[in-house]
Amino acid sequence: MSAGQYLRYDPSVEQIRPEEAEAVEAIVASIARTSASTFHKDGHGTRQQHAKGVGYLRGELIVYDDLPNHLSQGLFKKASRYPIIVRLSTAFNRSDRVRSPRGFAIKVLGVTGPRALDDDTSTNQDLLLVNHKSYFADAMAYRDAQRNVERGLVLPDLVFESVGFVSRILVAASDRTGIPIPIVLKALGDAGSNILGETFHTEGALRFGDYIARLRIVPLSDSVRRLTSQPCHDGDDVVLKSVVAFFKENSAEYELCAQLCTDVKRTPIENASIDWPEDVAPPEALGKIVLPRQTADSPPRRAYADEVLSFDPWRCLAAHQPLGSIMRVRRDAYRASRTLRQQQNQNRAIRPPEEPQQIEDFPD
Ligand code: HEM
Repeated sequence: MSAGQYLRYDPSVEQIRPEEAEAVEAIVASIARTSASTFHKDGHGTRQQHAKGVGYLRGELIVYDDLPNHLSQGLFKKASRYPIIVRLSTAFNRSDRVRSPRGFAIKVLGVTGPRALDDDTSTNQDLLLVNHKSYFADAMAYRDAQRNVERGLVLPDLVFESVGFVSRILVAASDRTGIPIPIVLKALGDAGSNILGETFHTEGALRFGDYIARLRIVPLSDSVRRLTSQPCHDGDDVVLKSVVAFFKENSAEYELCAQLCTDVKRTPIENASIDWPEDVAPPEALGKIVLPRQTADSPPRRAYADEVLSFDPWRCLAAHQPLGSIMRVRRDAYRASRTLRQQQNQNRAIRPPEEPQQIEDFPD
C-alpha cells in the first residue's frame, strides 16, 4: 500500500453528534454511582472497569528502524527504546470462572513532544488495549452498556457464568454463520483464554501523526504464541497465577502493529463496532514489546500499579490523540473513575497518585 492510499489526519475527520454530550454526562454520573457502591462494599476505591489486576510488568518498547514514512509517526518517528510499565487486568472484578475480556495497559516512559491535553504534565504515553477487535459503536451505545454495568453490580457470579455460557454459544454460531451479534454478547462470551497468548487491540482509533490508526499487539515469541487459545478459567484467580508462573521462568515478546485508516466508510472513526478489514488496512509492524523474566506480582508492585498509577488513553502525545465518539467519552470517564477512587483512598496509607518519571519508580 502506498502512503497516498491512507486518509490524512484532519480535525474534520471527527463528526460529533449533538446527543453525545448528554450521553457522556449520563455515563459519568453512572460511573460516580458505581464508584460509590463499590467503595461502600469493598471499603476502598477501585477502578470502575478492569479493577482486577492480573500481572504487573516492566519491559521495553523497541521501535523498529527504517520504518516507511507513513509509519514513522509520533512516538514511532525514529528507532528508539523506551522503558514501559504494563498492567494486565480482567474487565470484571470477579472470579476468573466468570470469563471476561482481558486488558493490556502500557505506560511508555520518557516520551517527548506536544501533549493532547493542556493539563497533562507527564512525559508518558499510555496505550490501553483489550483482547477484542471492536467495541461499542459510540458514546450513545455505551450509555446503555453502562446502565447494564450498574445493574450487574448486585448480581452473583453464577448469573454471569450462565449468561457467559449462552453468549459463547451465540459467538460460536455468529463466527460460523457470519451473522453479526451485539457487541455486549461478544464481551460476555469471551473464551477465557490464557491472557498472554491473546492479541490485543485499541478497538477505537487514534491519530497517528499525519494519519489515523488502530493499534494492536500480537504474540511474537514462541513462549507466548504457544499459549494462544489455551483455556484459563478453571479457578477464581487462575489468570494471575498463570502470569506469575510464566514470568518466573520465561520472557515474552509482542509485536506492536498499526492498521492505518484508508477512508471513513471502510475503516470508520465514529463507529468502533466495525472491524477494520485487513485486506483494506493491513496491520503493519512498528516495533516490539519485550518483557523479561520477572516477579509479575508482589505487594509493593501491586499497591503501586493498582493504587498509585492510572492508565488513560488521553495521557498521550497530540500526535496520538484518541479519535471518535467512543474514545472522546473516555476523556471524562477515566478522569471521573480515577479521581473518585483516589479521593476514596486518601485516608488509607497509600502513596498519593503519581506519574512515574523513570522505570526505577516501579517497585520490584
Ligand atoms: C474503546 C475501547 C476501550 C478499551 C480498549 C479500554 C481498555 C481499558 C483498559 C485496558 C483499562 C485498564 C487500565 C488499567 O490497567 O489501569 C480500562 C480501564 C477503564 N476503562 Fe476502558 N476501555 C475502552 C473503552 C472504555 C469506555 C468507552 C469507557 C467508559 C466510557 C471505559 C471506562 C473505563 C474505566 C472507568 C476504567 C478504569 C480507569 C481508572 O480508574 O483508572 N473504557 N479500560
